[in-house]
Amino acid sequence: MTPQVEVFAERSQLIARSLEVTLTQIKDAIAKRGRCTIALAGGNTPKPLYEHLATQDLPWHNIYIFWGDERYVPISDPQSNAGMASQAWLNHVAIPPGNIFPMPTQASDPAESAKIYDQQLQTFFDLEADQFPCFDLVLLGLGPDGHTASLFPHTAALQVCDRNVTVGQKDNQPRLTLTVPVINQAHCILFLVTGANKQTALTQIFAQETDAAQFPARLIQPSQGQLVWLLDAEAGQPLQQVS
Ligand code: 6PG
Repeated sequence: MTPQVEVFAERSQLIARSLEVTLTQIKDAIAKRGRCTIALAGGNTPKPLYEHLATQDLPWHNIYIFWGDERYVPISDPQSNAGMASQAWLNHVAIPPGNIFPMPTQASDPAESAKIYDQQLQTFFDLEADQFPCFDLVLLGLGPDGHTASLFPHTAALQVCDRNVTVGQKDNQPRLTLTVPVINQAHCILFLVTGANKQTALTQIFAQETDAAQFPARLIQPSQGQLVWLLDAEAGQPLQQVS
């Protein structure tokens, strides 16, 4: 499916649009499947979206929250993606605690935690051994190096296609991440990208030919679902030249 790319002059407009897309996916999923499963992105860009979601009146008991990736720190750590989303959003809405599935980061071996989360996904989505979970919405960011989730350039995580969750590596710092096939199984993948420092990665990701090992976000090609890129003018400038 051809990606839907929208460029916004102001970041506030990008966030407003990301809220609109998210709310549409939530309502559509609940109408069609009786629930909405969302895998959240970390980093800084999505925080204003999470803050807007905290003001919404939604059927929270039908909404289930997962993460696309996590730094290997406790939820209380300022680096925690689950901590950020909880402070910006989840702590402020009546979502049942049992609907929130932070990635575990307590085990000394991150690979052990990856297995635990993998099993949680298999149980929640009631999967057969060879099935991948199908999230209704996966939110993603993009690093200046072209990484997304915790799928970093030239790391082993990029090749993992027989599991739902694996260990990512950023400068030898372990992270947990959904694998490429899981992300690509989603009904809707929504990238939020801001800042001039993302221009090079975006140019490569949208180029005719590129080295996906160098720019891992290129690997995100949903098999059936929608792929939406929301860019601010700084990040999207090179693409506007093309179109
Ligand atoms: C993380 C994210 C990561 C993030 C990008 C972009 O754990 O940091 O999942 O993939 O989305 O690094 O981060 P910014 O939104 O802060 O630019």
